[in-house]
Amino acid sequence: MPVRSNNFADLACESLSRRGFLTATAALPALSLMTSEAQAAPAGFKAVAENRLDTVVVPEGYAWQPLISWGDPLFEGMAPLDLTKRGAPFAFTRAEQENRFGTHNDMLALFPANWAYPWPEGTVTRAIMCVNHEAVSPFMAAPGSDGQPIDMRVEALDALYACMGVSVFDVAHDPASGAWSVVKGPAVGVDRNRRVTPYSEVVFDGSAANHPWIAKAGAVVNEVEGARSGAPKVKGAIKAGTFQNCAGGFTPWGTYLTAEENFNNQFFTSDKASPALAEAQADAAFAVDQSIYRYDNVWRLGGPAQFDLSRNPHGPSLYGWIVEIDPYDPDWRPHKHTALGRKCNECATTVLSKTNKAVVYTGDDSNNQFVYKFVSRDKFDPTNRIANRELLSHGTLYAARLEADGTGRWIALTAAAANRAARGPGDLPFADDGDVMVRCREAALRLGATKMDRPEDVESPTDGSFRGTGTVFVMCTGNLSDSGRAGNVANPRRKTLAGDGLERNYQGHIVRFEEARQDPAALTFTWDIFAVAGDPSAEVAPVTNLEGQVVNASSWLNGKPTTTGDRFAMPDNITFDHRKFCWITTDGTPETFPCNDGVYVLPMVGKGPRPVKRFLTVPIGAECCGPLLAWDQKTFFCGVQHVGAENTKGQNFRGEPGGPYSNFPNGGWPRDSVIFVRRQDGGTVGT
Ligand code: FEO
Ligand code: CA
Repeated sequence: MPVRSNNFADLACESLSRRGFLTATAALPALSLMTSEAQAAPAGFKAVAENRLDTVVVPEGYAWQPLISWGDPLFEGMAPLDLTKRGAPFAFTRAEQENRFGTHNDMLALFPANWAYPWPEGTVTRAIMCVNHEAVSPFMAAPGSDGQPIDMRVEALDALYACMGVSVFDVAHDPASGAWSVVKGPAVGVDRNRRVTPYSEVVFDGSAANHPWIAKAGAVVNEVEGARSGAPKVKGAIKAGTFQNCAGGFTPWGTYLTAEENFNNQFFTSDKASPALAEAQADAAFAVDQSIYRYDNVWRLGGPAQFDLSRNPHGPSLYGWIVEIDPYDPDWRPHKHTALGRKCNECATTVLSKTNKAVVYTGDDSNNQFVYKFVSRDKFDPTNRIANRELLSHGTLYAARLEADGTGRWIALTAAAANRAARGPGDLPFADDGDVMVRCREAALRLGATKMDRPEDVESPTDGSFRGTGTVFVMCTGNLSDSGRAGNVANPRRKTLAGDGLERNYQGHIVRFEEARQDPAALTFTWDIFAVAGDPSAEVAPVTNLEGQVVNASSWLNGKPTTTGDRFAMPDNITFDHRKFCWITTDGTPETFPCNDGVYVLPMVGKGPRPVKRFLTVPIGAECCGPLLAWDQKTFFCGVQHVGAENTKGQNFRGEPGGPYSNFPNGGWPRDSVIFVRRQDGGTVGT
């Protein structure tokens, strides 16, 4: 979701430490302008014009269709979701939602119908799709609330939580027509279709698996949730499931990684004087953790007891992890890999190093937080898919430090290193490496990682068999915080129009790393600013944003344009096609420019300012997310998330009469959807 106000996390960072690496923006590494490179060439389609329409807009010669929308059944015999009873009591149950597609779809991934390594490259007729469900809005998910108080019985709150998590389902593709469709499962528990929700059984592994906070919280969850739905069927499992699933990744061994992002949003406190909470707060580390994440249910409506800090103060330690799901094996419980660190994880991009180790890049999407990578201890075995599910259980987590001279290094996050580093006021020691994983942000800050402007997707092109090329793109969505106002070497700032200071980073930018020796497991890298989002028309490009502020929205840096063509803002996710073009989705362009969010295509290689073309726009109120190209490059998928939740003035829908601000995709109440886009002549998209 767009973030307009100052974020909790920047306050936390500032209060924890003022030892940042804030510098003036003068000494930025220049754009990579290798003279041997040809001028960067634009993509081949005719760009879409800026618009504020309530529909998806694609280039001439292209067509789009919805694949699946919120509430669509994943199983045969289920009725369509009834969204027509306006004014009726909220009648949507947890049991219903646990078998339907969730809300706020974000990350998308396709898996071959039958796993083989390397993965298929051509046209397929069947595949498995995994989709993240990042959030839920009671106003959007309760259409009966139109103009009326929302009937938030316990059943309704249960159902809202069940809207989050992950959907796994088979898809069919007809190469002749180009159509994709959902293949419903014959019944719940048969075949591969399923939902993973905040109530599902999960298993913790890695150095923090037995952390005292996780152990305490797990016991409460199993007691509370066990009374409602029975004890876990697998020994050692916790019925904590997963939520706030933003972006993620997929592994060479055919598993899906879902990243738990703003987990702090799902907790509430029914009794601030509860003995359990008081006991937890006696632990100084717990108090610091609370101050960093500010646990607060954004609905302020309460919910199931396992999410009540008064009952389960350590509940938040069960979230903020990278979770591995095996789409081929519904019986294997999702694994929360604590070795990858607890934070507001945006993504989990997995590539293979030169020695076949699994390297997973993650971003912590909050103001002034860090970029991370995990390197596995063991090596990928292409002949033993199941054994590879252990790879993310053991390894080293690093955070990135970027220097002013364009070099950088990966800092290992261990208890020994963090406890050796100088401690400032309020900095607490770490008990062991597992404690570092739980309190990941504290360790990265203390060890000198570089604060970034909301690092969201961190993606790396591969050679087609998951071998990392060593190039890494870091999508910095922006930074509106006071504490991050000055920026730093890797997070440039424009001068204000009056020239009397520095603008906040309203539009975002993209940082590129080149790992040493092109090896994703390297401990050093070089970096540059790949592109600055914004308006390329001039070095000073005044725009009145949705807040009514007139800001300099130029995409220039160091006196030169970094882009040409279409302006955009707040890059969020990125993927790459076979022709070395970047496909970028945005979440927040309308904050700056009068245009819905969308997809922007620009070349990965070539010198000079990068020509940007707008490929697609999503309807009013939606962010665009989850960019995904089918293996044959003839279909582009993306997510349309929180459609209609915000009007063109930036006002959030709060149940006002008249309903939300969109009728996407089929008229009536708006529903978040996955869409697919094809060329009408069946050709390669983007050419
Ligand atoms: Fe869920 Fe960082 O976007
Ligand atoms: Ca995102």
